Amino acid sequence: MQRIGILTSGGDSPGMNAAIRAVVRKAIYHGLEVIGIKRGFNGFIEGDMEPMRLGSVADIIHRGGTILHTARSEHFKTPAGRAKAWENVERFGLEGLVVIGGDGSFTGASIFHREYGLPVVAIPGTIDNDISGTDYSIGFDTAVNTAVDAINKIRDTATSHERTFIVEVMGRDTGFLAIAAGLAGGAESILIPEYPFSIEEICHKLYKGYRRGKLHSIIVVAEGAGSGLEIGKQIKERTGFDTKVTILGHLQRGGTPTAFDRILASQLGARAVELLMQGATCKMVGMAAGKIVETDLDRVLGQRKTVDLDVYRLASILAI
Ligand code: F6P
Repeated sequence: MQRIGILTSGGDSPGMNAAIRAVVRKAIYHGLEVIGIKRGFNGFIEGDMEPMRLGSVADIIHRGGTILHTARSEHFKTPAGRAKAWENVERFGLEGLVVIGGDGSFTGASIFHREYGLPVVAIPGTIDNDISGTDYSIGFDTAVNTAVDAINKIRDTATSHERTFIVEVMGRDTGFLAIAAGLAGGAESILIPEYPFSIEEICHKLYKGYRRGKLHSIIVVAEGAGSGLEIGKQIKERTGFDTKVTILGHLQRGGTPTAFDRILASQLGARAVELLMQGATCKMVGMAAGKIVETDLDRVLGQRKTVDLDVYRLASILAI
């Protein structure tokens, strides 16, 4: 193997740059050439690709976002789009591809591998942490810390004004981010798509707290569990409590990556290069029980990662 490509795809996540750096430097260390593909699969289709050198990844380990830019490519979902990408694989002489992203990106990579046989290694990079085959995806830890920092600040003003706050966090259709941020932030309630809840029950909990002198509350809502604004409105109507809503939104996707995410990204990036050199055809690298592991990409895509409901229940017990 002499030349590999690398791209970032889907929603960006802090630590993607550290992963790019690791792939580029590890590959060059072993004498490989690396072609950086811009704007995810869109740049792959359009041939927006250029060689990366040691200096191309200087001074990026601490930066959020992705220097390669990213996109959710509709065109790559079509056979015509993938045929164009294959032309660029041949034009640039790529013998392997590293894809950093989430499950949508991995699905595209897997189909492309099946159709054209290009070896692919996927690296999980999403703040949602919803990829099976790894305990953590790059960016999750940073996003959790960003959300906790926001909750801490909201708690200050919630206490001063004796208010109920709804904090809506991202996570797509899962509650990984909400559970982690809610537990670490000491939220009174955490609403996730995986666990049924009723507004009545939440209001009951709020009243219970109020009766024993609790004058402020924080409720973390995963975006997949419902609209924070709507939930806030209903709680206000039922309880009459002064209720405010904060939607953290895309700020959870930015910022300097935590040391954990940088280390994870460095290890996964390096392992991805080793796997391609060893002849892997379609794998994902991940971390399980503290060890760097690899899993068949199709197995990853065939399994749904589930939240740890014991941790979820613990958060609820501790918030009483
Ligand atoms: O998958 C990452 C994520 O940030 C989700 O948490 C969120 O639902 C989605 O992407 C937002 O996507 P977009 O960047 O298209 O607004």
